[in-house]
Amino acid sequence: MSLLNRKISELAERRARAEQGGGPTAIAKQRAMGKLPARERISQLLDEGSFFEYDLFIEHDARGFGLDGKDLAGDGVVIGTGTINGKAVAIYAQDFTVAGGSLGSMHARKIAKIMDYALKMRMPLIGINDSGGARIQEGVNSLAGYGEIFYRNTIASGVIPQISVILGPCAGGAVYSPALTDFVFVVDKISKMFITGPEVIKSVLGEEIDMESLGGARVHSEITGNAHFFALSESECFDQIKTLLDYIPAHNEAKVAVCCKDGKYPGPKKSLKIERIVPVDPTKPYDVRDVIKAVTDESKFFEVQQMWAANIVVGFGRINGNTVGFVANQPLVLAGVLDCDSADKAARFIRFCDAFNIPLVTFEDLPGYLPGVDQEHAGVIRHGAKLLYAYSEATVPKVTIILRKAYGGGYIAMNSRHLRADFVFAWPMAEIAVMGPEGAANIIFKKEIMESENPEATRKAKVEEYKQKFANPYVAASKGYIDSVIDPKDTRNYIVNALEVSKEKSVKGPSKKHGIPPF
Ligand code: HXC
Repeated sequence: MSLLNRKISELAERRARAEQGGGPTAIAKQRAMGKLPARERISQLLDEGSFFEYDLFIEHDARGFGLDGKDLAGDGVVIGTGTINGKAVAIYAQDFTVAGGSLGSMHARKIAKIMDYALKMRMPLIGINDSGGARIQEGVNSLAGYGEIFYRNTIASGVIPQISVILGPCAGGAVYSPALTDFVFVVDKISKMFITGPEVIKSVLGEEIDMESLGGARVHSEITGNAHFFALSESECFDQIKTLLDYIPAHNEAKVAVCCKDGKYPGPKKSLKIERIVPVDPTKPYDVRDVIKAVTDESKFFEVQQMWAANIVVGFGRINGNTVGFVANQPLVLAGVLDCDSADKAARFIRFCDAFNIPLVTFEDLPGYLPGVDQEHAGVIRHGAKLLYAYSEATVPKVTIILRKAYGGGYIAMNSRHLRADFVFAWPMAEIAVMGPEGAANIIFKKEIMESENPEATRKAKVEEYKQKFANPYVAASKGYIDSVIDPKDTRNYIVNALEVSKEKSVKGPSKKHGIPPF
């Protein structure tokens, strides 16, 4: 055998050894839990044959606790670059079969390296998390590794999209990397995220709780809002990631590829008649997602955080091929009121769209903020302020359509002209007022109603009088607060035109280091 061939076969042996991860027993255990090994996850997610792995031959530098000289293949994490639907991505996947995917200093250094590549080469970063957290045997070196990752997550924020995929445990401080990224994907029964695990909770608080109820995929999709996308299997999760990447640009100065066939953009489905979706009676609910689908290309809408704070709907669609971020009150849930969680959800989505130059379209129909001690004590002032801040700060093209109710603080918060919406349109049945006609009449005509011979009849008459005078779009139109009252059938045309004329929009704020949002 020639020297070259010997060297090449040594390389093949070394490569095979490193690629076997924690070995057949650990891999079998991983599969038994319904989880794929790290490299299989990468090859399922990326375009076939596109993955180039780096730092395969990294060795851990832990000492003591039986780790001296122990072979931890690639130190429990796989890093590299590849493509998804032809677009370059940087990726890392923790390998639970190697020391539980625990994060030691070299493991952290590999992740930091691929993060640096992603930022320098300006491509999305995908992190697959499956780890027992900081490698206990490596002490402060593991903690330092997390610090390096969190710092990079923060610096890269708003420059490249960062995606976290939770495909196993993500315990302790490890959860803060996903929390600093833009989108978190979870899979039913597989994902587990928590700061303190069941054992710590039992010893400190004496409470018994299983991992699933503490921080499973449903908990983070429905209750905490930490997760943005929920899937029933790893392969469904990978499909969701591919779809998301189709909607968002590779970095903050890139354009999203416009898709169109033979120079024609597919319009919404003809069966979705926008004028028939919204009942004229302002107390009747409807699904605002149908309104969104009635204006998007092929009636497609990719919803974000579907299972959390469902009284507001956020997500991506396309209009004439261009990605648009939609924010809409959802009358199906809590009449579409704003509250702490819905304000948080919308504010964060708006900031993502603004950072990545994705225009915003807002559909408004809400009775205002959710009243009550619970909301006040939960900090609805602080949380609600995030929405005002996010809309005011956003400089991407911003279009608002008032469908029905736009009452009080809700009117201002939902991308009003006063927060610098570029275009505000209202449907003819829109009601723009300080509060609903019932409440308003009861307050301003209280004396007249009480003193009249037939208070109920007077109350009704006063409600009607208020409606005629104020609960319509024409007072706001007469002041120029809305640009036009439009026929619902023309909604898409108005949006298309507004986005077209806003293409070169340029807004510069005053010079400052950064603002101080009400975090
Ligand atoms: C070193 C670890 C480890 C860790 C797991 N392992 N977690 N090794 N450091 N943090 C090892 C185990 O010893 C075992 O090695 C292998 O990984 C598989 O673990 P098992 O326990 O057998 O697996 P399983 O039963 O599936 O349980 C998984 C688990 C559990 C739930 C994740 O291992 C666990 O609770 N680990 C600790 C989780 C935790 O509290 N982490 C927080 C650390 S503090 P062998 O050799 O037997 O196969 C932290 C702070 C960071 O992260 C702060 C940053 C700011």
